[in-house]
Amino acid sequence: MRITPSILTADFTRLGETLESAISSGIDWIHLDVMDGNWVVNRTITFGPALIRSIREKVGSEVFLDCHLMVTNAEETWKQYVDAGVDLVIAHIEAIEDPSALISDLHSAGVQAGLVLNPDTDASTILPYLSSLDLVLIMSVVPGKGGQSFMPEVEEKVRTFRLAIDEQRENGGRNTMLMIDGGIKSHNAKLVADWGIDIAVVGSGLINSKGTISENLDEIFTSINE
Ligand code: DX5
Ligand code: ZN
Repeated sequence: MRITPSILTADFTRLGETLESAISSGIDWIHLDVMDGNWVVNRTITFGPALIRSIREKVGSEVFLDCHLMVTNAEETWKQYVDAGVDLVIAHIEAIEDPSALISDLHSAGVQAGLVLNPDTDASTILPYLSSLDLVLIMSVVPGKGGQSFMPEVEEKVRTFRLAIDEQRENGGRNTMLMIDGGIKSHNAKLVADWGIDIAVVGSGLINSKGTISENLDEIFTSINE
């Protein structure tokens, strides 16, 4: 299972150092949490295309950047993030009208397409689009901030997508990536890896005052391989 850091809990006045530290510890995928101050329950604003453009310039072309759009108008604004340099756009199924059109637009623009669902959103909302999706993201917290507690009740949804993706791939279809996001730490990383998660987003479990990113990453990988 791959680990990708969310930079949400980073000190934004030292983001360059944080990115350098992540990359020197072997991280090659960064998860960018975009919130527009409207869509998430606590009305948070995080950052937009301007910061993402700076991050792309900082990390270079080899690091994979995804953007998790927690915004009300992803279908109108997705291109700003593509132009800012992201490789993958992940949009909330709860906030878009025409998933097929968005997926097609993203692929035409040369980037990967992902859909994400909240803890209380049913898998059936995304399964019809699975064959054209590069990634499905399952939220294990209610979107809005880092440092929240993991919600184990998403296990059934993870297993539903794991089975559906494996069947799709075995029938010659797309090998859609399965990602989880929210509350992942060293105490539950192995649990979600065993559920069949491909990539886990880790925010406060990686970027915190307890240890360096490298130390925290080692602790997580050690827990997975125990
Ligand atoms: C929450 C974000 C998550 C969050 C993860 O709305 O989508 O990516 O930053 O942070 P932790 O790992 O601390 O829950
Ligand atoms: Zn996220």
